Amino acid sequence: MGAWNKRDDMLIHTAEPFNAEPPPAALAGHPITPTDTFYSRNHGNIPRIDPASWRLSVDGLVERPLELSLADLQSRFEHHTVVATLACAGNRRGELMAVRDIPGQTPWRSAAISTARWTGVRLRDVLAAAGPSGEAHHIAFTGADRATGIDPAQPFGGSIPADKATSGDVLLAWRMNDEPLPVAHGAPVRVIVPGYVGARSVKWVERITAQRHPSSSYFQALDYRVLPAETDPGTAPAGSGLSLSVAALNSAILTPSEGSHVLVGPNLVTGYATAGEHRAVARVDVSADGGKNWRVADMEHPPGPWAWVLWRATVNLPPGRVEITARAWDTSAATQPEHPEPLWNPLGYLNTSWSNVHLIAAL
Ligand code: MTE
Repeated sequence: MGAWNKRDDMLIHTAEPFNAEPPPAALAGHPITPTDTFYSRNHGNIPRIDPASWRLSVDGLVERPLELSLADLQSRFEHHTVVATLACAGNRRGELMAVRDIPGQTPWRSAAISTARWTGVRLRDVLAAAGPSGEAHHIAFTGADRATGIDPAQPFGGSIPADKATSGDVLLAWRMNDEPLPVAHGAPVRVIVPGYVGARSVKWVERITAQRHPSSSYFQALDYRVLPAETDPGTAPAGSGLSLSVAALNSAILTPSEGSHVLVGPNLVTGYATAGEHRAVARVDVSADGGKNWRVADMEHPPGPWAWVLWRATVNLPPGRVEITARAWDTSAATQPEHPEPLWNPLGYLNTSWSNVHLIAAL
């Protein structure tokens, strides 16, 4: 068992803050990702919080500000379970960095994405107990960790629109895959925002604020934004660029692994695909000749409406160097762009280009 109870073969990008993803092949075959395989993304050191002294404040534009203990949360509100995929907005950034460097950012491969069963209470119910005013258009979350490397130092935070916050599937969760939520994943309680980029699922949440405007946290106002390619992120004004919220249409090949040697003839290719909110993955195509000819993959029934789709296709490989390519389509008939070059952005978010692996096939 490796750091933070993760599997030994995690790719650890940084030990502190702990940023790690599994080998892509470890995600294959598991509609629900085992907890020891689930990626971990942190902007500061992981806080250890005593569940008995943890308190959650609900404040801002509410009629009745609340201060809740874990026991209050668990006893006052109905419990609810959601299967949701979390994906880091920086997933697959490494391919953007191959186009042009992105200094200071983690070169995530394609496994900064995982799926779990999350259990807790609905944020909607907790907000209803506090009575938000009609002016509360955004719900902001603040975590207990201190992010490192930003000035001024501050806790991690972010917000979601009030409509999303009250939609019923946004959770304050204390269980993951039917076990207590691990410390590295936000214990005692984290927010789960299904269908949004992972950054909005704030861990170690200790404050929920109903407010007129989106969060002014660094992680909402300056980070997690798609800036125009020529913008300097160091001088871009707060609020510039496109703020990330809804998850993107994306896919990646999980097996065979990049660079592996395989046998000529039929080979099984597997992977995942995700679609944005209010859309679903409609089709996945796989090519064994760099995108000239495509075969439609078989898709598994996803483990829930907020979860990824795992897919598989058998392709016939000729001898020599082969490039396998995958692309997904959603229910609006949109598909992924072919190349990462036009998607390059200064913070390296949302690489949704076709996924490729390179193999050597021999008899
Ligand atoms: N919450 C806090 N408090 N601190 C963080 O650094 N990282 C966010 C989000 N919530 C973060 C956080 C990001 S960028 C992602 S992608 C997800 O948590 C990752 O969740 P995980 O570490 O449980 O996989």
